Amino acid sequence: MQGNSCCGASNSKIKDEKWVSLEGILEKFRGKKGALIPVLQQAQDLYGYLPENVMAGIADGLDLPLSQVYGVATFYSQFHLKPRGKNIIRVCLGTACHVRGAAKILESIQKEINVEKGGTTEDLQFTLEPVACIGACGLAPVIMINDDTHGRLTPEAIPQILEQYKNN
Ligand code: FES
Repeated sequence: MQGNSCCGASNSKIKDEKWVSLEGILEKFRGKKGALIPVLQQAQDLYGYLPENVMAGIADGLDLPLSQVYGVATFYSQFHLKPRGKNIIRVCLGTACHVRGAAKILESIQKEINVEKGGTTEDLQFTLEPVACIGACGLAPVIMINDDTHGRLTPEAIPQILEQYKNN
C-alpha cells in the first residue's frame, strides 16, 4: 500500500474536480475484489477516456501494478485510452451496408469531418468508428450517431445530418 491517500507523485497533476470524485470512488473500492473494472468504468465516465495519469492514480489508489491497470484497460474494447468526441459516429461496413454503398457514406463523412477511421476531430466534436453489422440491415446503408440510427443514407445526406450534432 502506498499510503492512505491515493494521490502519489504520478498523479500530482490531476487534482481537479474529476479527480476528487475519482478519489471517492477509489476510497469505496479500495481493498475490494474485482474493483479494477468498475473503477476504470467510472473513471472513463468522468474523463471520457482513460488518460495515463488517471490510470497511474488508479494503480496507486487500488495498490495494483500499473501494468495490470494498463493491461485491463487495453484488453477490453469498452475502454478508451485516447480522448473521444462528444458524438460517436458508427459507420456500418457490414455486408448489407457494404453492397448498398457504405464505402461512399464513409467517404462522405470523412470528407465532412476530416478524420481517419477510428480518429477524433481536433475540436472533439466527433469520433468516427467503422463497425460491423449494427442489426438494422433493412435500412442499409446505416450509421449510428450516439444512440440515433440514420438509415437508407446517401452520401449527399451526410452534411445535413452531421450539422445537427455540431456544437450540441
Ligand atoms: S450490415 Fe449494416 S446494419 Fe447490418
